[in-house]
Amino acid sequence: MSSLSCSWAVPVVTTNTTTSSPSFSRKPSIAKRTQRFHVSCNSTNDDDQNAPTSQGKFERRNLLLGLGGLYSATQLTSNPQALAAPIQPPDLSKCGPATNLNTGQQLDYNCCPPVTNRIIDYQLPRPTVMRFRPSAHLVTKDYIFKYNRAVELMKALPADDPRNYTQQANIHCAYCNGAYDQVGFQDLDIQVHNCWLFFPFHRWYLYFYERILGNLIGDPTFGLPFWNWDNPQGMTIPPMFNNSRSAIYDEKRNQNHLTSIIDLGYNGTDSGNTPLQTVGNNLNIMYSEMIRNVKVIEDFMGQPYRAGDAVNPGPGTSERGSHTAVHIWGGDPRQPSGENLGNFYSAGRDSLFYSHHANVDRMWKLWRDLRGSNPKDFTDRDWLNASFVFYDENARLVRVKVSDSVSNERMGYVFQKVDIPWLNNRPQPRVQKSRVATTSGAPTAADVKFPLTLDKIVKILVPRPKKSRKETDKDKEEELLVIEKIEVDTTKFVKFDVFVNDEDDKIDELDKSEYAGTFAQVPHKHKGPVKVKPSIRLGLTELLEDLDVEDDDSILVSLVPRAGDVTIGGIKIIYASK
Ligand code: C2O
Repeated sequence: MSSLSCSWAVPVVTTNTTTSSPSFSRKPSIAKRTQRFHVSCNSTNDDDQNAPTSQGKFERRNLLLGLGGLYSATQLTSNPQALAAPIQPPDLSKCGPATNLNTGQQLDYNCCPPVTNRIIDYQLPRPTVMRFRPSAHLVTKDYIFKYNRAVELMKALPADDPRNYTQQANIHCAYCNGAYDQVGFQDLDIQVHNCWLFFPFHRWYLYFYERILGNLIGDPTFGLPFWNWDNPQGMTIPPMFNNSRSAIYDEKRNQNHLTSIIDLGYNGTDSGNTPLQTVGNNLNIMYSEMIRNVKVIEDFMGQPYRAGDAVNPGPGTSERGSHTAVHIWGGDPRQPSGENLGNFYSAGRDSLFYSHHANVDRMWKLWRDLRGSNPKDFTDRDWLNASFVFYDENARLVRVKVSDSVSNERMGYVFQKVDIPWLNNRPQPRVQKSRVATTSGAPTAADVKFPLTLDKIVKILVPRPKKSRKETDKDKEEELLVIEKIEVDTTKFVKFDVFVNDEDDKIDELDKSEYAGTFAQVPHKHKGPVKVKPSIRLGLTELLEDLDVEDDDSILVSLVPRAGDVTIGGIKIIYASK
Protein backbone atom coordinates (compact mmCIF):
# COMPACT_ATOMS: atom_id res chain seq x y z
CA MET A 1 0.00 0.00 0.00
CA SER A 2 1.35 3.29 -0.86
CA SER A 3 0.54 6.58 -2.37
CA LEU A 4 2.94 9.36 -2.88
CA SER A 5 2.19 12.98 -3.34
CA CYS A 6 4.85 14.71 -5.34
CA SER A 7 5.42 18.32 -5.97
CA TRP A 8 7.06 19.89 -8.91
CA ALA A 9 8.42 23.36 -9.00
CA VAL A 10 8.85 24.45 -12.57
CA PRO A 11 12.32 25.88 -12.96
CA VAL A 12 12.68 29.44 -14.13
CA VAL A 13 13.64 29.39 -17.79
CA THR A 14 14.57 32.50 -19.65
CA THR A 15 16.67 32.97 -22.70
CA ASN A 16 17.48 36.56 -22.01
CA THR A 17 21.19 36.94 -22.47
CA THR A 18 21.53 40.51 -21.43
CA THR A 19 24.84 41.41 -19.92
CA SER A 20 23.61 44.21 -17.76
CA SER A 21 24.05 43.66 -14.06
CA PRO A 22 21.09 41.92 -12.57
CA SER A 23 19.49 43.20 -9.44
CA PHE A 24 19.33 40.94 -6.46
CA SER A 25 16.67 40.64 -3.91
CA ARG A 26 17.86 39.99 -0.42
CA LYS A 27 18.16 36.51 0.97
CA PRO A 28 15.01 34.50 0.71
CA SER A 29 13.08 33.95 3.83
CA ILE A 30 13.37 30.70 5.67
CA ALA A 31 9.72 30.06 4.82
CA LYS A 32 10.54 28.07 1.76
CA ARG A 33 8.59 25.31 0.13
CA THR A 34 5.37 27.20 0.03
CA GLN A 35 4.30 27.94 -3.46
CA ARG A 36 4.76 24.63 -5.12
CA PHE A 37 2.77 23.29 -7.96
CA HIS A 38 1.52 19.99 -6.71
CA VAL A 39 0.90 17.09 -9.01
CA SER A 40 -0.04 13.74 -7.80
CA CYS A 41 2.03 10.91 -9.06
CA ASN A 42 0.50 7.74 -10.38
CA SER A 43 -0.84 6.43 -7.20
CA THR A 44 -0.54 2.76 -6.78
CA ASN A 45 -2.23 0.47 -4.41
CA ASP A 46 -0.73 -2.84 -3.71
CA ASP A 47 2.18 -3.00 -6.01
CA ASP A 48 4.00 -0.37 -4.01
CA GLN A 49 5.82 0.91 -7.04
CA ASN A 50 6.34 4.34 -5.65
CA ALA A 51 7.78 3.25 -2.37
CA PRO A 52 11.45 3.72 -1.93
CA THR A 53 13.28 0.62 -2.93
CA SER A 54 16.10 -0.78 -0.91
CA GLN A 55 18.31 1.45 -3.01
CA GLY A 56 16.32 4.43 -1.83
CA LYS A 57 15.01 5.18 -5.27
CA PHE A 58 11.51 6.15 -6.13
CA GLU A 59 10.09 4.58 -9.22
CA ARG A 60 10.96 7.43 -11.52
CA ARG A 61 8.98 6.14 -14.44
CA ASN A 62 5.71 6.47 -12.56
CA LEU A 63 6.68 9.83 -11.25
CA LEU A 64 7.65 11.18 -14.62
CA LEU A 65 4.56 9.78 -16.30
CA GLY A 66 2.62 11.69 -13.70
CA LEU A 67 4.48 14.81 -14.71
CA GLY A 68 3.27 14.47 -18.27
CA GLY A 69 4.31 17.35 -20.45
CA LEU A 70 7.69 17.92 -18.88
CA TYR A 71 9.03 14.82 -20.54
CA SER A 72 8.38 14.07 -24.16
CA ALA A 73 6.15 11.26 -25.23
CA THR A 74 8.87 9.68 -27.31
CA GLN A 75 11.12 9.51 -24.32
CA LEU A 76 8.41 7.67 -22.50
CA THR A 77 7.50 5.20 -25.16
CA SER A 78 10.57 4.43 -27.20
CA ASN A 79 12.73 3.30 -24.36
CA PRO A 80 10.93 3.30 -21.05
CA GLN A 81 14.01 2.01 -19.26
CA ALA A 82 15.96 5.04 -20.31
CA LEU A 83 13.73 7.75 -18.88
CA ALA A 84 15.61 10.94 -18.43
CA ALA A 85 16.08 11.96 -14.83
CA PRO A 86 19.12 14.18 -14.59
CA ILE A 87 19.53 16.22 -11.42
CA GLN A 88 18.06 19.68 -12.13
CA PRO A 89 19.55 22.95 -10.94
CA PRO A 90 18.02 24.17 -7.71
CA ASP A 91 15.40 26.88 -7.58
CA LEU A 92 17.26 29.59 -5.66
CA SER A 93 14.06 31.19 -4.47
CA LYS A 94 13.34 28.01 -2.52
CA CYS A 95 16.71 27.85 -0.80
CA GLY A 96 16.29 27.10 2.88
CA PRO A 97 18.27 26.50 6.01
CA ALA A 98 21.28 24.24 5.81
CA THR A 99 22.37 21.59 8.23
CA ASN A 100 25.62 21.23 10.10
CA LEU A 101 26.39 17.76 8.90
CA ASN A 102 28.73 16.97 11.74
CA THR A 103 26.04 17.48 14.35
CA GLY A 104 22.84 17.03 12.38
CA GLN A 105 21.63 20.40 13.71
CA GLN A 106 20.17 23.14 11.55
CA LEU A 107 22.72 25.89 11.02
CA ASP A 108 21.86 29.24 12.52
CA TYR A 109 23.55 30.67 9.49
CA ASN A 110 21.96 31.32 6.12
CA CYS A 111 24.10 30.23 3.19
CA CYS A 112 21.57 30.93 0.44
CA PRO A 113 22.74 33.07 -2.48
CA PRO A 114 21.04 36.24 -3.67
CA VAL A 115 18.05 35.56 -5.89
CA THR A 116 17.53 36.80 -9.39
CA ASN A 117 14.91 35.69 -11.84
CA ARG A 118 17.16 35.74 -14.88
CA ILE A 119 18.93 32.53 -15.70
CA ILE A 120 21.16 32.27 -18.71
CA ASP A 121 22.07 28.99 -20.35
CA TYR A 122 25.81 29.14 -20.21
CA GLN A 123 27.81 28.78 -23.42
CA LEU A 124 31.45 27.92 -22.91
CA PRO A 125 33.39 30.81 -24.39
CA ARG A 126 35.90 29.76 -27.01
CA PRO A 127 39.19 30.18 -25.15
CA THR A 128 41.46 32.71 -26.81
CA VAL A 129 44.15 32.37 -24.21
CA MET A 130 44.53 29.50 -21.73
CA ARG A 131 44.44 30.03 -18.01
CA PHE A 132 47.39 28.44 -16.31
CA ARG A 133 47.02 26.65 -12.98
CA PRO A 134 50.42 26.42 -11.30
CA SER A 135 51.55 24.03 -8.58
CA ALA A 136 51.09 25.98 -5.34
CA HIS A 137 54.58 25.00 -4.15
CA LEU A 138 56.27 26.33 -7.26
CA VAL A 139 54.69 29.75 -7.67
CA THR A 140 56.68 32.98 -7.93
CA LYS A 141 56.48 35.97 -5.61
CA ASP A 142 54.66 37.86 -8.34
CA TYR A 143 52.05 35.17 -8.60
CA ILE A 144 51.52 35.14 -4.81
CA PHE A 145 51.12 38.91 -4.86
CA LYS A 146 48.60 38.74 -7.68
CA TYR A 147 46.60 35.93 -6.09
CA ASN A 148 46.46 37.75 -2.77
CA ARG A 149 45.35 40.91 -4.46
CA ALA A 150 42.54 39.05 -6.23
CA VAL A 151 41.31 37.48 -2.99
CA GLU A 152 41.48 40.85 -1.19
CA LEU A 153 39.34 42.39 -3.90
CA MET A 154 36.90 39.51 -3.70
CA LYS A 155 36.61 39.99 0.06
CA ALA A 156 36.01 43.70 -0.46
CA LEU A 157 32.99 43.22 -2.72
CA PRO A 158 29.64 44.11 -1.12
CA ALA A 159 28.32 41.34 1.10
CA ASP A 160 25.34 40.68 -1.14
CA ASP A 161 27.34 40.52 -4.35
CA PRO A 162 27.30 36.84 -5.32
CA ARG A 163 30.98 37.11 -6.24
CA ASN A 164 31.95 38.17 -2.72
CA TYR A 165 34.31 35.77 -0.92
CA THR A 166 31.77 34.67 1.68
CA GLN A 167 29.09 34.22 -0.97
CA GLN A 168 31.50 32.00 -2.88
CA ALA A 169 32.15 29.92 0.25
CA ASN A 170 28.40 29.65 0.75
CA ILE A 171 27.99 27.92 -2.60
CA HIS A 172 29.52 24.84 -1.07
CA CYS A 173 27.34 25.08 2.00
CA ALA A 174 24.14 25.43 -0.04
CA TYR A 175 24.85 22.57 -2.47
CA CYS A 176 26.29 20.25 0.11
CA ASN A 177 24.40 20.86 3.34
CA GLY A 178 20.84 20.38 2.25
CA ALA A 179 19.78 23.99 1.58
CA TYR A 180 18.37 23.05 -1.82
CA ASP A 181 15.58 20.64 -2.61
CA GLN A 182 15.68 18.63 -5.74
CA VAL A 183 13.30 20.35 -8.11
CA GLY A 184 10.15 18.28 -8.03
CA PHE A 185 11.02 16.45 -4.84
CA GLN A 186 10.45 18.63 -1.85
CA ASP A 187 11.52 15.94 0.55
CA LEU A 188 14.82 15.28 -1.15
CA ASP A 189 17.97 17.37 -0.95
CA ILE A 190 20.47 18.02 -3.65
CA GLN A 191 23.74 16.49 -2.53
CA VAL A 192 26.66 16.67 -4.93
CA HIS A 193 28.98 14.41 -2.96
CA ASN A 194 29.15 10.62 -2.76
CA CYS A 195 28.08 10.19 -6.35
CA TRP A 196 28.97 10.82 -10.00
CA LEU A 197 28.35 14.58 -9.71
CA PHE A 198 31.33 15.06 -7.42
CA PHE A 199 33.93 15.89 -10.11
CA PRO A 200 31.72 17.96 -12.45
CA PHE A 201 30.11 20.02 -9.69
CA HIS A 202 33.43 21.02 -8.15
CA ARG A 203 34.94 21.69 -11.57
CA TRP A 204 32.22 24.20 -12.38
CA TYR A 205 32.45 25.74 -8.92
CA LEU A 206 36.18 26.38 -9.28
CA TYR A 207 35.77 27.49 -12.88
CA PHE A 208 33.66 30.51 -11.90
CA TYR A 209 35.65 31.18 -8.73
CA GLU A 210 38.79 31.40 -10.86
CA ARG A 211 37.17 33.61 -13.48
CA ILE A 212 35.87 35.99 -10.83
CA LEU A 213 39.36 36.32 -9.34
CA GLY A 214 40.93 36.78 -12.77
CA ASN A 215 38.38 39.43 -13.63
CA LEU A 216 39.01 41.37 -10.45
CA ILE A 217 42.68 41.76 -11.33
CA GLY A 218 42.07 42.08 -15.06
CA ASP A 219 44.06 38.96 -15.88
CA PRO A 220 42.40 36.53 -18.31
CA THR A 221 45.23 34.03 -17.84
CA PHE A 222 44.87 33.81 -14.07
CA GLY A 223 44.57 30.22 -12.85
CA LEU A 224 44.14 28.87 -9.33
CA PRO A 225 47.17 27.27 -7.70
CA PHE A 226 46.79 23.51 -7.15
CA TRP A 227 48.01 21.87 -3.95
CA ASN A 228 50.17 19.10 -5.35
CA TRP A 229 49.60 16.72 -2.38
CA ASP A 230 50.17 13.68 -4.60
CA ASN A 231 53.85 14.56 -5.03
CA PRO A 232 56.35 14.41 -2.11
CA GLN A 233 57.39 17.96 -3.01
CA GLY A 234 53.87 19.16 -2.40
CA MET A 235 52.95 17.10 0.66
CA THR A 236 52.85 20.02 3.09
CA ILE A 237 50.48 22.97 3.19
CA PRO A 238 51.85 25.27 0.46
CA PRO A 239 53.92 27.89 2.35
CA MET A 240 52.06 30.90 0.93
CA PHE A 241 48.99 29.85 2.92
CA ASN A 242 50.91 30.07 6.19
CA ASN A 243 51.55 33.81 6.00
CA SER A 244 49.21 35.17 8.65
CA ARG A 245 49.16 38.62 7.05
CA SER A 246 47.90 37.42 3.70
CA ALA A 247 44.36 37.30 2.36
CA ILE A 248 44.58 33.55 1.85
CA TYR A 249 45.44 32.81 5.47
CA ASP A 250 42.92 31.08 7.70
CA GLU A 251 43.54 30.49 11.37
CA LYS A 252 40.98 27.69 11.56
CA ARG A 253 43.34 24.92 10.54
CA ASN A 254 44.91 22.09 12.48
CA GLN A 255 47.87 23.85 14.11
CA ASN A 256 49.87 20.62 14.31
CA HIS A 257 49.75 20.25 10.55
CA LEU A 258 50.98 23.62 9.36
CA THR A 259 54.35 22.30 8.24
CA SER A 260 54.03 18.54 8.60
CA ILE A 261 53.70 15.93 5.87
CA ILE A 262 50.14 15.26 4.89
CA ASP A 263 48.75 11.81 5.58
CA LEU A 264 46.43 10.74 2.76
CA GLY A 265 45.37 7.80 4.93
CA TYR A 266 44.50 10.14 7.82
CA ASN A 267 42.01 8.68 10.25
CA GLY A 268 41.47 11.61 12.58
CA THR A 269 44.57 11.19 14.72
CA ASP A 270 48.25 11.45 13.90
CA SER A 271 49.71 8.08 13.05
CA GLY A 272 53.19 8.04 14.53
CA ASN A 273 54.58 6.79 11.21
CA THR A 274 57.98 8.03 10.08
CA PRO A 275 57.84 10.68 7.34
CA LEU A 276 59.28 8.11 4.93
CA GLN A 277 56.50 5.65 5.73
CA THR A 278 53.87 8.39 5.34
CA VAL A 279 55.20 9.35 1.92
CA GLY A 280 55.28 5.68 0.89
CA ASN A 281 51.71 5.21 2.10
CA ASN A 282 50.59 8.34 0.25
CA LEU A 283 52.08 7.19 -3.03
CA ASN A 284 50.42 3.82 -2.81
CA ILE A 285 47.11 5.38 -1.84
CA MET A 286 47.41 7.50 -4.99
CA TYR A 287 48.37 4.50 -7.10
CA SER A 288 45.44 2.48 -5.82
CA GLU A 289 42.85 5.24 -6.27
CA MET A 290 44.13 6.42 -9.66
CA ILE A 291 45.14 3.14 -11.26
CA ARG A 292 44.57 -0.13 -9.47
CA ASN A 293 41.05 0.35 -8.16
CA VAL A 294 39.54 2.26 -11.05
CA LYS A 295 39.38 0.05 -14.11
CA VAL A 296 35.60 0.55 -14.19
CA ILE A 297 34.44 4.12 -14.73
CA GLU A 298 32.06 4.51 -11.79
CA ASP A 299 34.68 3.24 -9.40
CA PHE A 300 36.59 6.42 -10.12
CA MET A 301 33.80 8.88 -10.86
CA GLY A 302 31.24 7.74 -8.29
CA GLN A 303 27.97 5.90 -8.67
CA PRO A 304 24.91 7.15 -10.62
CA TYR A 305 22.69 9.68 -8.84
CA ARG A 306 19.50 10.81 -10.56
CA ALA A 307 16.52 13.03 -9.90
CA GLY A 308 14.34 11.33 -7.33
CA ASP A 309 17.15 9.43 -5.67
CA ALA A 310 16.83 9.82 -1.95
CA VAL A 311 20.34 8.78 -1.09
CA ASN A 312 23.71 9.22 -2.63
CA PRO A 313 24.84 5.88 -3.95
CA GLY A 314 28.53 5.99 -3.21
CA PRO A 315 31.71 7.93 -3.90
CA GLY A 316 34.56 7.05 -6.23
CA THR A 317 38.03 6.19 -4.96
CA SER A 318 39.47 9.68 -5.12
CA GLU A 319 36.55 11.32 -3.35
CA ARG A 320 36.48 8.87 -0.46
CA GLY A 321 40.27 8.52 -0.27
CA SER A 322 42.72 11.40 -0.65
CA HIS A 323 39.98 14.01 -0.97
CA THR A 324 38.32 13.15 2.32
CA ALA A 325 41.66 12.72 4.09
CA VAL A 326 42.82 16.23 3.15
CA HIS A 327 39.58 17.78 4.44
CA ILE A 328 39.77 16.00 7.78
CA TRP A 329 43.53 16.49 8.14
CA GLY A 330 43.23 20.23 7.47
CA GLY A 331 40.23 21.05 9.66
CA ASP A 332 40.81 22.63 13.08
CA PRO A 333 40.15 20.26 15.98
CA ARG A 334 39.76 23.28 18.29
CA GLN A 335 36.55 24.18 16.47
CA PRO A 336 33.24 22.53 17.35
CA SER A 337 32.82 20.74 14.01
CA GLY A 338 36.19 20.60 12.34
CA GLU A 339 35.79 24.04 10.76
CA ASN A 340 36.84 25.17 8.29
CA LEU A 341 38.14 22.45 5.95
CA GLY A 342 36.74 19.53 7.94
CA ASN A 343 33.10 20.43 7.44
CA PHE A 344 31.26 20.92 4.18
CA TYR A 345 29.38 24.05 5.24
CA SER A 346 32.56 25.93 6.15
CA ALA A 347 35.18 24.36 3.86
CA GLY A 348 34.94 27.08 1.20
CA ARG A 349 35.89 29.78 3.72
CA ASP A 350 39.48 28.57 3.72
CA SER A 351 41.34 29.52 0.54
CA LEU A 352 43.22 26.27 0.88
CA PHE A 353 39.97 24.55 -0.11
CA TYR A 354 40.22 25.87 -3.67
CA SER A 355 43.80 24.68 -4.02
CA HIS A 356 42.86 21.31 -2.57
CA HIS A 357 40.03 21.01 -5.07
CA ALA A 358 42.15 22.28 -7.94
CA ASN A 359 44.27 19.18 -7.33
CA VAL A 360 41.19 16.97 -7.05
CA ASP A 361 40.15 18.45 -10.40
CA ARG A 362 43.60 17.67 -11.76
CA MET A 363 43.10 14.04 -10.69
CA TRP A 364 40.04 13.87 -12.94
CA LYS A 365 42.11 15.15 -15.84
CA LEU A 366 44.98 12.74 -15.14
CA TRP A 367 42.63 9.79 -14.81
CA ARG A 368 40.96 10.62 -18.13
CA ASP A 369 44.35 10.94 -19.80
CA LEU A 370 45.43 7.58 -18.38
CA ARG A 371 42.22 5.81 -19.20
CA GLY A 372 42.58 6.29 -22.91
CA SER A 373 39.94 3.75 -23.83
CA ASN A 374 36.20 3.95 -24.17
CA PRO A 375 34.25 5.30 -22.60
CA LYS A 376 36.46 7.96 -21.15
CA ASP A 377 33.36 9.63 -19.79
CA PHE A 378 29.92 8.49 -18.78
CA THR A 379 27.61 8.30 -21.78
CA ASP A 380 24.50 8.16 -19.59
CA ARG A 381 22.28 11.14 -20.38
CA ASP A 382 21.37 11.58 -16.75
CA TRP A 383 24.99 12.39 -16.10
CA LEU A 384 25.57 14.48 -19.23
CA ASN A 385 22.42 16.54 -18.73
CA ALA A 386 22.67 17.04 -14.99
CA SER A 387 22.98 20.76 -14.36
CA PHE A 388 23.76 23.39 -11.75
CA VAL A 389 23.52 27.16 -11.46
CA PHE A 390 26.32 29.54 -10.54
CA TYR A 391 26.96 33.26 -10.73
CA ASP A 392 29.60 34.04 -13.31
CA GLU A 393 32.31 36.72 -13.27
CA ASN A 394 29.74 39.31 -14.40
CA ALA A 395 27.37 38.32 -11.58
CA ARG A 396 24.93 36.75 -14.00
CA LEU A 397 23.18 33.58 -12.91
CA VAL A 398 24.04 30.87 -15.40
CA ARG A 399 22.92 27.30 -15.86
CA VAL A 400 25.69 24.87 -16.71
CA LYS A 401 25.62 21.26 -17.81
CA VAL A 402 27.85 18.41 -16.78
CA SER A 403 28.45 17.60 -20.46
CA ASP A 404 30.30 20.91 -20.89
CA SER A 405 32.71 20.13 -18.07
CA VAL A 406 34.44 16.98 -19.27
CA SER A 407 37.48 18.66 -20.78
CA ASN A 408 39.46 21.24 -18.84
CA GLU A 409 41.10 22.39 -22.08
CA ARG A 410 37.74 23.13 -23.63
CA MET A 411 36.93 25.08 -20.51
CA GLY A 412 40.01 27.15 -21.14
CA TYR A 413 42.51 26.14 -18.48
CA VAL A 414 45.52 23.87 -18.16
CA PHE A 415 47.66 22.60 -15.29
CA GLN A 416 51.35 23.06 -14.82
CA LYS A 417 53.09 19.80 -15.75
CA VAL A 418 54.86 18.27 -12.78
CA ASP A 419 56.23 14.80 -12.03
CA ILE A 420 53.65 12.17 -11.19
CA PRO A 421 55.58 9.91 -8.83
CA TRP A 422 52.72 7.49 -8.13
CA LEU A 423 52.34 6.64 -11.78
CA ASN A 424 54.83 3.81 -11.82
CA ASN A 425 54.52 3.08 -8.16
CA ARG A 426 52.98 -0.37 -8.49
CA PRO A 427 53.49 -1.65 -4.96
CA GLN A 428 55.46 -4.72 -3.98
CA PRO A 429 53.89 -7.53 -1.99
CA ARG A 430 55.26 -8.16 1.50
CA VAL A 431 54.72 -11.86 1.01
CA GLN A 432 54.40 -13.39 -2.42
CA LYS A 433 52.37 -16.53 -3.01
CA SER A 434 50.95 -16.03 0.43
CA ARG A 435 49.42 -19.15 1.99
CA VAL A 436 47.64 -17.14 4.62
CA ALA A 437 44.24 -17.60 3.01
CA THR A 438 44.25 -21.35 3.29
CA THR A 439 45.86 -21.55 6.71
CA SER A 440 44.14 -18.69 8.49
CA GLY A 441 41.25 -20.60 10.00
CA ALA A 442 39.10 -17.50 9.40
CA PRO A 443 35.40 -17.99 8.75
CA THR A 444 34.21 -17.91 5.16
CA ALA A 445 31.79 -15.21 4.06
CA ALA A 446 28.97 -17.77 4.01
CA ASP A 447 29.48 -18.56 7.71
CA VAL A 448 29.67 -14.98 8.93
CA LYS A 449 26.54 -13.49 10.42
CA PHE A 450 25.73 -10.18 8.74
CA PRO A 451 25.26 -7.36 9.53
CA LEU A 452 28.68 -7.44 11.06
CA THR A 453 30.04 -4.71 13.32
CA LEU A 454 33.64 -3.71 12.76
CA ASP A 455 34.59 -3.07 16.36
CA LYS A 456 37.97 -4.75 15.89
CA ILE A 457 39.98 -6.08 12.97
CA VAL A 458 37.80 -8.64 11.23
CA LYS A 459 39.09 -11.35 8.88
CA ILE A 460 36.92 -13.16 6.40
CA LEU A 461 37.69 -15.75 3.72
CA VAL A 462 35.96 -14.68 0.52
CA PRO A 463 35.52 -17.30 -2.21
CA ARG A 464 36.35 -16.39 -5.82
CA PRO A 465 33.72 -17.44 -8.35
CA LYS A 466 36.40 -17.60 -11.09
CA LYS A 467 40.04 -18.44 -10.71
CA SER A 468 43.06 -18.83 -12.99
CA ARG A 469 41.54 -16.32 -15.41
CA LYS A 470 43.09 -15.89 -18.87
CA GLU A 471 44.70 -12.59 -19.83
CA THR A 472 41.92 -11.91 -22.34
CA ASP A 473 39.29 -12.31 -19.62
CA LYS A 474 41.23 -10.05 -17.30
CA ASP A 475 41.39 -7.41 -20.02
CA LYS A 476 37.65 -7.49 -20.42
CA GLU A 477 36.48 -7.91 -16.87
CA GLU A 478 37.73 -6.55 -13.60
CA GLU A 479 37.54 -8.75 -10.52
CA LEU A 480 36.06 -6.65 -7.73
CA LEU A 481 35.78 -7.11 -4.01
CA VAL A 482 32.42 -5.67 -2.96
CA ILE A 483 31.75 -4.60 0.59
CA GLU A 484 28.03 -4.13 0.74
CA LYS A 485 25.46 -2.19 2.69
CA ILE A 486 27.92 -0.22 4.74
CA GLU A 487 26.01 1.29 7.61
CA VAL A 488 27.49 4.28 9.35
CA ASP A 489 26.37 7.29 11.26
CA THR A 490 26.64 9.65 8.33
CA THR A 491 27.02 12.67 10.59
CA LYS A 492 30.40 11.36 11.82
CA PHE A 493 33.76 10.95 10.18
CA VAL A 494 34.07 7.23 9.46
CA LYS A 495 36.89 5.24 7.96
CA PHE A 496 38.04 1.66 7.54
CA ASP A 497 40.80 0.09 5.45
CA VAL A 498 40.87 -3.19 3.58
CA PHE A 499 43.79 -5.59 3.13
CA VAL A 500 44.00 -8.85 1.21
CA ASN A 501 46.12 -11.84 2.33
CA ASP A 502 48.03 -9.56 4.66
CA GLU A 503 50.29 -12.04 6.35
CA ASP A 504 52.42 -9.67 8.39
CA ASP A 505 49.44 -7.62 9.61
CA LYS A 506 51.31 -4.33 9.79
CA ILE A 507 48.25 -2.18 9.43
CA ASP A 508 50.07 1.14 9.37
CA GLU A 509 51.98 0.16 6.24
CA LEU A 510 49.86 0.97 3.25
CA ASP A 511 52.73 0.87 0.76
CA LYS A 512 52.34 -2.78 -0.18
CA SER A 513 50.29 -4.82 -2.61
CA GLU A 514 48.23 -6.27 0.23
CA TYR A 515 46.58 -2.87 0.83
CA ALA A 516 43.36 -2.97 -1.18
CA GLY A 517 41.71 0.36 -0.42
CA THR A 518 39.59 2.40 1.92
CA PHE A 519 36.15 3.63 2.81
CA ALA A 520 35.97 7.11 4.32
CA GLN A 521 33.41 9.87 4.38
CA VAL A 522 33.22 13.50 5.31
CA PRO A 523 30.14 13.76 7.55
CA HIS A 524 26.90 14.42 5.72
CA LYS A 525 23.19 14.08 6.25
CA HIS A 526 20.14 13.31 4.18
CA LYS A 527 16.59 14.37 4.38
CA GLY A 528 13.99 11.71 3.95
CA PRO A 529 13.20 8.34 5.36
CA VAL A 530 15.71 6.15 3.61
CA LYS A 531 18.84 5.00 5.39
CA VAL A 532 22.03 5.24 3.42
CA LYS A 533 23.78 1.95 2.86
CA PRO A 534 26.45 2.46 0.25
CA SER A 535 28.77 -0.22 -1.07
CA ILE A 536 32.36 0.04 -2.15
CA ARG A 537 34.21 -1.98 -4.78
CA LEU A 538 37.93 -2.60 -4.81
CA GLY A 539 39.84 -3.85 -7.84
CA LEU A 540 41.50 -7.22 -7.31
CA THR A 541 42.90 -8.21 -10.69
CA GLU A 542 46.26 -6.51 -10.35
CA LEU A 543 46.52 -7.13 -6.63
CA LEU A 544 46.11 -10.89 -7.08
CA GLU A 545 48.72 -10.86 -9.85
CA ASP A 546 51.15 -9.10 -7.52
CA LEU A 547 50.57 -11.59 -4.75
CA ASP A 548 50.78 -14.47 -7.22
CA VAL A 549 47.61 -16.07 -5.90
CA GLU A 550 45.46 -16.00 -9.01
CA ASP A 551 44.91 -19.74 -8.80
CA ASP A 552 43.57 -19.66 -5.25
CA ASP A 553 39.95 -20.46 -4.41
CA SER A 554 39.60 -17.70 -1.83
CA ILE A 555 41.25 -14.59 -0.52
CA LEU A 556 41.59 -13.54 3.10
CA VAL A 557 40.15 -10.06 3.60
CA SER A 558 41.07 -8.00 6.68
CA LEU A 559 38.77 -5.10 7.55
CA VAL A 560 40.55 -2.59 9.76
CA PRO A 561 38.33 -0.02 11.49
CA ARG A 562 40.00 3.41 11.79
CA ALA A 563 37.34 5.89 12.90
CA GLY A 564 33.64 5.86 13.75
CA ASP A 565 31.20 2.96 14.04
CA VAL A 566 30.71 0.77 11.00
CA THR A 567 28.54 -2.22 10.22
CA ILE A 568 28.73 -4.08 6.94
CA GLY A 569 25.95 -6.09 5.33
CA GLY A 570 27.98 -8.49 3.21
CA ILE A 571 31.13 -9.15 1.28
CA LYS A 572 31.63 -10.88 -2.05
CA ILE A 573 33.57 -10.94 -5.30
CA ILE A 574 32.01 -9.95 -8.62
CA TYR A 575 33.22 -9.31 -12.17
CA ALA A 576 32.42 -6.13 -14.10
CA SER A 577 33.23 -5.15 -17.67
CA LYS A 578 35.86 -2.51 -17.99
CU1 C2O B 1 32.50 19.52 -1.91
CU2 C2O B 1 35.89 18.62 -0.92
O1 C2O B 1 34.12 18.93 -1.00
